[in-house]
Amino acid sequence: MVGLNMGAQEIVPGIHWTGVNDYTNDLFEGIWPIPHGVSINSYVVKGDKIALIDLVKAGGGGSSENLIDQLGSIGIKMKDIDYLVINHLEPDHTGFLNHIRELCPNAEILSSEKGVPLVEAFYGMKEGVRAVKDGEKLDLGNGKQLAFYYAPNVHWPETMVTYEESSGVLFPCDAFGSFGAFKGYIFDDQITPEDHEFFERETLRYYANIVATFSNSVIKAIEKLGALDIKVIAPSHGLIWRENPGEIIKRYQRYASYMSEEAEPEITVIWGTMYGNTETIMRAVLRGIAQEGIPVKIHKVPETDASWVLASAWQSAGLVIAMPTYEYNIFPPMDYILNLMKLKHYWHKKVLRIGSFGWVGGAQKHFNNRIERMNWECIGPLEYQGAPTAEDLALAEKKGRELAMAVKKIPSKR
Ligand code: FEO
Repeated sequence: MVGLNMGAQEIVPGIHWTGVNDYTNDLFEGIWPIPHGVSINSYVVKGDKIALIDLVKAGGGGSSENLIDQLGSIGIKMKDIDYLVINHLEPDHTGFLNHIRELCPNAEILSSEKGVPLVEAFYGMKEGVRAVKDGEKLDLGNGKQLAFYYAPNVHWPETMVTYEESSGVLFPCDAFGSFGAFKGYIFDDQITPEDHEFFERETLRYYANIVATFSNSVIKAIEKLGALDIKVIAPSHGLIWRENPGEIIKRYQRYASYMSEEAEPEITVIWGTMYGNTETIMRAVLRGIAQEGIPVKIHKVPETDASWVLASAWQSAGLVIAMPTYEYNIFPPMDYILNLMKLKHYWHKKVLRIGSFGWVGGAQKHFNNRIERMNWECIGPLEYQGAPTAEDLALAEKKGRELAMAVKKIPSKR
């Protein structure tokens, strides 16, 4: 079935998906729009003993009734659960932990050493909570054995991943995840090419919004997990990769590399205008870029939400930041974007900043302060008072082409 009532789905014998589809049109983390929803994936592993791995939040489709129904359909009662494995404490995966604990009071809660204090901080629980060590194994009997590996800062410090050794199923929590709810399937081999494109876009957006800051930790985690024979990747958001788990690993490796190296040979143009004068010169820049045949993505702010702007900019080696001075400072919607880029380590970009001012400038000075320590290689700036002259427009076209030529030399990682 599609949607909130999707039943338990077998991944391999003895391991089932028991998650939810959040179609509430909520904001993920209270910031990022999810117009296509998001899945919050939970799993149950059944040996002689039973472990629930990665829980869900209450609301947005998550409820104890839903979980009880899903487990009941595969012959498991809540009181039968022996372990609650909490890979990561963020409340989208733990939101109704208190209620679940009431339903299975004898279940032991397992988390990392840094996770245990957070179980108390968020949910007031100390009893029946145990820290597992990095590399520790847990024999569930009947051939099922879990192994726990710490993956700090992917994307909170307490994060760990769980690996079921007999089946090669990896439960990496937020790593390898994406936005986008399921449409009646859960596996990578069940969906159309169009849905693969959809999930690729939503994976990039999820990465750029949620994970980007921690790209070095992603690379370390992928190296650490390289020793495992991973046959299935079962993240806490998005598709379960059983046919081609290497694809999502490669995708995450590539996204992570964009923090410490130049990204793809393409340009993201981010622009905002008050009365059209910045728009006029932005179009001249576009003419210059077009002469070099470089792919361009254009986002107007504040009309386009930062979530999509960030996704595009993360993947682009080149940026055009086109905005006017506003009250001696940066046009506020652009300041929001620049602030997020700084927070999320949007480093190593080639950048052209253009824009108009009325009485006096000011945006450029604050822009220079804002981008300190981001390793941006700036071409320009190009500022002008009032409306651009013919000379300004010719110069803008030239600088657009200059930026495109610099970006064109960068090899693609795709
Ligand atoms: Fe899906 Fe970091 O929580």
